[in-house]
Amino acid sequence: MRFSDQFLDELRSRLSILEIAGKHVSWDPRKSRPAAGEYWACCPFHSEKTPSFHIKEHEGFFKCFSCEAGGGTIQFYQKIYNASFPEAVEKLADIAGLPLPVSTPEDRKKADKADKLIAMAEEAAKFFRLQLESSSGRAAVDYLRSRRLSIEDCRRYGIGYAPPGGALLNHLANLGYDRESALEAGLVGKSAERGDYFDWFRNRIVFPIRSQRGKAIAFGGRAMDPNAKAKYLNSPETAIFKKGRCLYNHSAAREARARGKPLILAEGYMDVVALCQAGFEASVAPLGTAVTADQLKLLWKLSPEPIVALDGDNAGFSAAIRVIYSALPLLGHSRSLRFCLLPEGLDPDDLISRRGVEAMKRLIDESLPLHRMLWLGETRERQFASPEKRAALQAKLNSAIEKIPDGNLRKQYFTEFKRMMWEAFSKSKGRRKLSGGAAGASAMPLNETKISIPALIAANKAEHDGLREAAILGIFLSNPGLIQEFESKLEEMTPSTSDHAEIIAALLDCADIRDLEEFKAAVAAKAGENKIQRLLSQRNVMIVPAIAKPGDMNLARAALEVEIQTLFAERSARETIKEARLDFSEDAGFSIKCIKDAKEKLEDAKQGAGSGGESAWTTAPVDENDQKKINAILARN
Ligand code: UTP
Ligand code: MN
Repeated sequence: MRFSDQFLDELRSRLSILEIAGKHVSWDPRKSRPAAGEYWACCPFHSEKTPSFHIKEHEGFFKCFSCEAGGGTIQFYQKIYNASFPEAVEKLADIAGLPLPVSTPEDRKKADKADKLIAMAEEAAKFFRLQLESSSGRAAVDYLRSRRLSIEDCRRYGIGYAPPGGALLNHLANLGYDRESALEAGLVGKSAERGDYFDWFRNRIVFPIRSQRGKAIAFGGRAMDPNAKAKYLNSPETAIFKKGRCLYNHSAAREARARGKPLILAEGYMDVVALCQAGFEASVAPLGTAVTADQLKLLWKLSPEPIVALDGDNAGFSAAIRVIYSALPLLGHSRSLRFCLLPEGLDPDDLISRRGVEAMKRLIDESLPLHRMLWLGETRERQFASPEKRAALQAKLNSAIEKIPDGNLRKQYFTEFKRMMWEAFSKSKGRRKLSGGAAGASAMPLNETKISIPALIAANKAEHDGLREAAILGIFLSNPGLIQEFESKLEEMTPSTSDHAEIIAALLDCADIRDLEEFKAAVAAKAGENKIQRLLSQRNVMIVPAIAKPGDMNLARAALEVEIQTLFAERSARETIKEARLDFSEDAGFSIKCIKDAKEKLEDAKQGAGSGGESAWTTAPVDENDQKKINAILARN
């Protein structure tokens, strides 16, 4: 019996090589890495004492490095039971709970039809590619070049050009395909009024959409004409193309996964192409619709933690949150997501072209785990000043967690969110604490960080913040090479004056200008020369070594790490203390604990800064009465 590609794809996506092979081998716990979905065992196909049989769970492949046996789940089953292909498929379909396609004459007709539609789509892909390289494709080639894609690049991704008029229809007719079939393949349309046929894609750049096994099944077309009704147009759904069950670049991404590339989900065709060009070849995109559960399952077949990189605007953000809500009922130990936060207004393609591959790489490395993104989605740009608002947030998070099917995981999420609520509302009041790693205190070379900023002693809080901020901005002004590295911190800074806000915006805008003088001029032009002068002429700014002697990146980086960490820690401590004071009459013990915590944190930050000076703890406006109560409680503890 002949099985359709669709059926076999469905079967493969439901089978677990881990389960099937696991019945015949015992995994070596020392060599296996379950988190990565890689397992080792002694080979069941020949006798051996040390494991050389290897499976990659998410790719569904096995390989023995000793006897060279290898293949997919179906081949494993065939080999272990010495079964024929159809036998293996029948047995495995039974295991997977997938009803076997009944091979009626009708089915065979359907399968033949699918083959024919695929053959037509392949012909169309070839035609579009040739058109791009012919004289009619000149404008398309120019357009693609303006988007940094050469002819060779286009060949690599199969990008083509659909000319205006009915060229494809004629071409298919010449090959012997009738119009009705072309209509069924989604390559032509038929007008309702006059019943005439027309090319579906006209004057568009076309991206071939391929099945899991790499066969052309549909296209996405980008308008060349900026006034076109739709910027992107996809093939209509056909017998071989269901939007919600396909991913753009799926088959190539699968291969790239085998080479260890991270799996990235972007929003558009151009994003995927740009990511591939940047070396992230395991990138895919949904096809102009919201991400479906089927698509998530396809992703998890390739990686336990795909990275979602949607556009850096509100729509992209909401899309990410929608993805989370679709994913929650499907989450498991090796089925989660990460989220890459792009700067406002940029998609991955924009980011790579404007800020470079390294910037993209950094954002991918810094991607957030799902629970952090969910938290951000529910708390972003909102105030939680009252107990009611916080309770509502908690209820919202709880109802999200309820959707997770695995009890253990659900519990972990519950605990994590509880901790995050505590962090946000009792310790640092809504401000994300500085993450560890590069900015962590332990990573700081202490001897290089002694920057004396006399203004530390300032009594006025806003002024105090302002002076430290000024020093930080001054360091960036003299060392623009560090802006991208600290971009997220800069964005998080909540400037204390409008001058600073404008300078931050200008710094971020000009971050990609390499020449120092040119950079300074551009920032001055954007933010206003006088603001820059005011900033740089402050005494505490002038004496910062990294500003006085620009060019020493390590010195500047170390100074930034300390200054930023201290700035954030001081603010957070002050806010904590302020809030603890407000709560004091309600729950004194709790308040004291918060204050003690804040004080410790501040001490840590000061240790890192290596500078003396007044802390927010002592400058915080604690009134005499409260201070007495605090002292009494501290004495009792
Ligand atoms: P975007 O509008 O974000 O465009 O659409 P883009 O990907 O940045 O495209 P460029 O860079 O301007 O070329 C993202 C995706 O949404 C779908 C497409 O799949 C597109 O890749 N889309 C968009 C449509 O299906 N139709 C449209 O009219 C627009
Ligand atoms: Mn784009």
